[in-house]
Amino acid sequence: MAQSLAPAWPGRATYARSVTLLPPIPATVDPELLGQEAADLAAAGGLTFYVDDETFTYWVDGTSVRCEIGKDTGTTAVRMSRRSWDDLVGQMTTFVGLLLRGELHFDKGGFDQLSAWEPVLRYLHAGIPPYEPSRADFAGRDPAAAFGADTDDAELAAQLRTMGYLHIKGVFSADEMAAANDEIDRLAALARPGDDQSWWVTNEDGSSALCRLVYASLRSSLLAGMDSDPRVRRLGELLGPDVKIAPDRMEGTCVLIKVPGKTSGLSNIPWHQDCGTGGHAMFCPAVSVGIQLTGSDATTGNLQMVPGSHGTTLRYGWQDRLDDVQVVSIDTEPGDVTVHIQDVMHASPRPTGPGQRRTMYVTHYPPALWDHIGPGQALNDLVRNRTEQVADLQRASSDAFGATASQGSGSSTHEAPRT
Ligand SMILES: [Fe+2]
Repeated sequence: MAQSLAPAWPGRATYARSVTLLPPIPATVDPELLGQEAADLAAAGGLTFYVDDETFTYWVDGTSVRCEIGKDTGTTAVRMSRRSWDDLVGQMTTFVGLLLRGELHFDKGGFDQLSAWEPVLRYLHAGIPPYEPSRADFAGRDPAAAFGADTDDAELAAQLRTMGYLHIKGVFSADEMAAANDEIDRLAALARPGDDQSWWVTNEDGSSALCRLVYASLRSSLLAGMDSDPRVRRLGELLGPDVKIAPDRMEGTCVLIKVPGKTSGLSNIPWHQDCGTGGHAMFCPAVSVGIQLTGSDATTGNLQMVPGSHGTTLRYGWQDRLDDVQVVSIDTEPGDVTVHIQDVMHASPRPTGPGQRRTMYVTHYPPALWDHIGPGQALNDLVRNRTEQVADLQRASSDAFGATASQGSGSSTHEAPRT
């Protein structure tokens, strides 16, 4: 690129409100990987940005990516404000996040062409590498491994760092899970559409069904006790102790309830990273501890992961290349716990049978979250009141993702819910 090569944001970005229009290229960028991605981008054509009064175009030159100020020759051209651009470069938002907020305006081309550039741009702007299946290195570890609760911390942490997720068996007892389910039954009976404490989906017959309790531990001393249980804290702190739970913001502790059948709404979550609509610089690598209240398999709607995808960007439309990307489905028993780093690529597909998986997610965030998100706030207010706004979100997301959003899951969002 026509820029100076100086280290800027090695690895994960540290957000700054005011960034240079074209930040220096991180020293960690691997020219070979960049060239590999660039070659695949050639067909997408150049990409022009109009940012306030500035114009610049990225384009592929062989296996190089170039950018020139003042040039407007892209086959795709998009306008945005300087604030939106700064948020994008600073990894506080994404193209999807900007689209959902109505902050992208296309002069030429559309979202498909823009998204094709996202892995390369995140690499150049923040050093977040594109996910490349041929480079996946699990260091001899098994992506489908399940561990006993007595496994030492170093081993669990190594698995989590390698795969981006963990499965630990038998952390909680059957009695503990029965008591928690009784409590969730109580909260579910009190939930109403539009109460800001729950999410609902629409069944095929038009009826509503509860699919998630949010801020659940604020209404239950039993669940609050699980939030701060030493077993949960231990797993939440596997990547380091400088994290804490956020019961009063970011939806707090939430309980996922998988609704069976064909539904519309936010029960079945297509492939996503939890920072898919933004917030990467603010909360990654947050760690979500998923207490498996009921256990899970494909019939109840289990969790699926792309091992080793955390800290990377997956190419737009990667689902069409599943032969290249390994996917692990995690089947659990009641009392098991899953752990995932928020930016690992994961999904919660439609149950093939009776559904009703229940998982309680207790997420441990880095301190930067509290600089940006206040009590009662979540990353994207657009999706906070699901009852009224989910239809608009689905429509926008479906428009943005086409086949991705309709890939058999019955849902269509790339917002950041824990699945
Ligand atoms: Fe998620």
